[in-house]
Amino acid sequence: MTTKQESQDWVYSAKVKEHFLNPRNFLMGDESKFTHDTEGIVGNPICGDQMKMFLKIKDDKITDIKWKTYGCASAIASTSALSQLAKGKTLDEALKITAKDIDDYLGNLPKHKFHCSVLGHEALEAAIKNYRDQKDH
Ligand code: FES
Repeated sequence: MTTKQESQDWVYSAKVKEHFLNPRNFLMGDESKFTHDTEGIVGNPICGDQMKMFLKIKDDKITDIKWKTYGCASAIASTSALSQLAKGKTLDEALKITAKDIDDYLGNLPKHKFHCSVLGHEALEAAIKNYRDQKDH
């Protein structure tokens, strides 16, 4: 017998669905056409999905952001939300965005899909690390 809580765990919020169907800042087509200052790529060890993120940076602020993924609906909706939260922020501010911020923004992801919500943030961290490493050399 399925409990009410268990059946709710199968339901995406309207906002998650909307971001999945209309992902913000999703990179369509050839990535070489999006001029960017850095990029980061990560894989999710739980499911094997990948995420790639591209940033334009000016005066230490993210002026534009694009991403693409093989990840699932939760990863797409989460990264869409993250991209909106991160745009216009300084690099340090963007690094402080948490999975909970994304979850709050979207109105709760199903708990068993929480691991998908960190994929975009890890790609963002990788892109910022690459940017800072380039600047140090
Ligand atoms: S199941 Fe792989 S990112 Fe969600």
